[in-house]
Amino acid sequence: MSDVDLNTGFRIIKVLTELEKQSVLERSGLTEISHKDSMLAITSDTGKFFSILLSAMNANNILEVGTSVGYSTLWLAYSFYQNNENSRVSKRNITTIDNDPLKIKKATTNFKNAGVSDIIETIEGNAIEVLKQLSISVNDNEDDQSEYFDFIFLDADKENLAEYFDLAISMVKKGGLIITDNVLYPEEYRSSMSKYIEHIRKKDFVQSVTVPIGHGEEVSLKIR
Ligand SMILES: C[S@@+](CC[C@H](N)C(=O)[O-])C[C@H]1O[C@@H](n2cnc3c(N)ncnc32)[C@H](O)[C@@H]1O
Repeated sequence: MSDVDLNTGFRIIKVLTELEKQSVLERSGLTEISHKDSMLAITSDTGKFFSILLSAMNANNILEVGTSVGYSTLWLAYSFYQNNENSRVSKRNITTIDNDPLKIKKATTNFKNAGVSDIIETIEGNAIEVLKQLSISVNDNEDDQSEYFDFIFLDADKENLAEYFDLAISMVKKGGLIITDNVLYPEEYRSSMSKYIEHIRKKDFVQSVTVPIGHGEEVSLKIR
């Protein structure tokens, strides 16, 4: 690992630690934080889980739907700097989508402070529209899967999840993962999440399981 990469690993952890303080405060309910200022982030265990999966898969091309202030994005980036082997991968890329310009502004600052701006492309826009555009360009050449994603994380609004999943599955590699947050918590999402899980599990080319970590992660593998 070069000195630059090692330094970046430390910088990512530093920013994650700062953001975690805010996240813990937000979840404690001790301070009133308005919805527009909320991070609504994954838990740190979930972040570590993602980072471990990404390192094990040697994932290079990652897509996230729902950036917020970039907490989960930084965990996705962390796997690139975690060990020597991954630091040698030449093309590493994270694309992340959010429709809130204020959140994107904060995320951009966090990415800069963590030293990872060069590997993250942030797209501002409505997730459905952006995913449709991305899927056209990714599927441009059916024989060339080089633009396909290794890992797609779905963590925006829950109303359009089934549509997000169907667009995501068209862009993920065979052997790639789609992970969906909030399948267990908050409880108010439970019934819509059950319908969503039913939607996924009807697909015979997908193997899927709920992992009870953090807010509950649905881990879906594209098997063909
Ligand atoms: C739960 S937060 C994401 C948290 C982030 N993944 C993390 O763990 O740090 C959901 C984000 O999705 C964004 N969002 C909600 N609906 C959206 C939509 N239709 N298109 C794009 N972004 C959307 C919100 O602005 C918000 O920042």
